[in-house]
Parts: sequence; C-alpha cells; structure tokens
Amino acid sequence: MDGIKFTVAIDGPAAAGKGTISKAVAAHFGFSHLDTGLLYRAVGAKVLAGGDPVAVARMLDPVDLENDDLRTPAVAQAASQVAVIADVRAALVDFQRKFAARDGGAVLDGRDIGTVICPDAHVKLFVTASAECRAKRRYKELSDKGINVTPAQVLADVKERDARDSGRAAAPLIAADDAALIDTSEMTIEEAVAQAVAIVAAAKDDVR
Ligand code: DC
Repeated sequence: MDGIKFTVAIDGPAAAGKGTISKAVAAHFGFSHLDTGLLYRAVGAKVLAGGDPVAVARMLDPVDLENDDLRTPAVAQAASQVAVIADVRAALVDFQRKFAARDGGAVLDGRDIGTVICPDAHVKLFVTASAECRAKRRYKELSDKGINVTPAQVLADVKERDARDSGRAAAPLIAADDAALIDTSEMTIEEAVAQAVAIVAAAKDDVR
C-alpha cells in the first residue's frame, strides 16, 4: 500500500488484547504500528523520576519509547495518572496524528484513537474483555517476566486504571459510535486476531 493512507484505530481498556491484535493486524497488512500507551508510559516514567508531566510530554523523544522498563505496574499507574492532564494529552496529539498519516497504512492502539486522535480512521475497533479475564492475562504476562505481583493486586490495578481512564474529563476511554466491538473474554488470541483482520480487510476493500 505504498503511498496510500489507511488508518486503523484500536481502542480498549488495559490488557484486553489490543497490543497483540494491533501488532498482528499491522504485520498482516504491512502497516506501521504505534502503541500510544507507550507515550503515556514514557511520560509517567519520567515523572516517577522527578520530571514535570507537561514539560516532559512536550520534550518527549521517540527514543524514549524504546525502554523495557515501561512495562511495569508502577509505570502503568503513573501513565494513567499523567493521562488525566489535558496539557499532557495535547502535547502528544501531533506525534500520533503524523504517525497515523504516514504512507503505507498505520495501526494506532490506545484509549482515544477512534474518538479524538483519528476520528476519521478508516476502521475502528474497540477491544474489550471482563476485568477478571484481563487481570488473569496481565498476571501471567507479569509473572512470566519475573515481576513480583499477586493476582489480587493485578485485578485491583486493572480496575483502578479502568475507573481513572474511563472517568477522566479529557478524552476518556469510550468506544467510538462507529467502532466494531470485539469482546475477547471467551476468545483465543487467534480468534480475536482473525476477527480483527477480517474487519480491517472488509474496510480496506471498501476504500479501494
Ligand atoms: O495501553 P497502556 O496500558 O500501555 O496505557 C497506559 C496508560 O496510558 C493507560 O492506563 C491510560 C493512558 N493512555 C491514554 O490515556 N490514552 C492512550 N491513547 C493510551 C494510553
């Protein structure tokens, strides 16, 4: 799809499977992929290190996203906290919109891609699952990485982030009216990916 603009917006709560689905969709169609949660995580990590949220968001460098330490529960919570600040969000808009407009197609995943960042995306998916299901998956992911957490902590963490991400005034987590809903609670990852790929393929045929 060289020279063609095609944007896929994938939103949903923490640990619903957005990341895996987004990567798989991007690989399937040869699109670029941006995990926008990493932007907020990078800001959150710098704030934990003593930075001012708005100042670090304005000076964020793409290199800051290449940091394995952004995947910890502490950074996830810090990300959710800085994401409430409207000026932090505003500082990150241009980078995301430029990415979405790059040649050859782009997949962006986050919380507000279909509603705020790319309201005109060619296809929008809202990927969700029950909090219990998401916490179970996130627990496995974190313990596989050797991060010391309990299932109860992970569930509390997921619910706290859900409440904050959905309840904030600035760009809250909500499905766009025109998003296709994928509830992955009872699906294998292969099934969820197949469903997402089918929806994107149909939308791609429509714009031809
Ligand atoms: O997708 P994630 O778990 O890596 O995101 C971390 C936090 O960043 C999430 O709890 C809320 C915030 N976020 C956001 O507000 N908007 C986005 N587009 C992506 C993430």
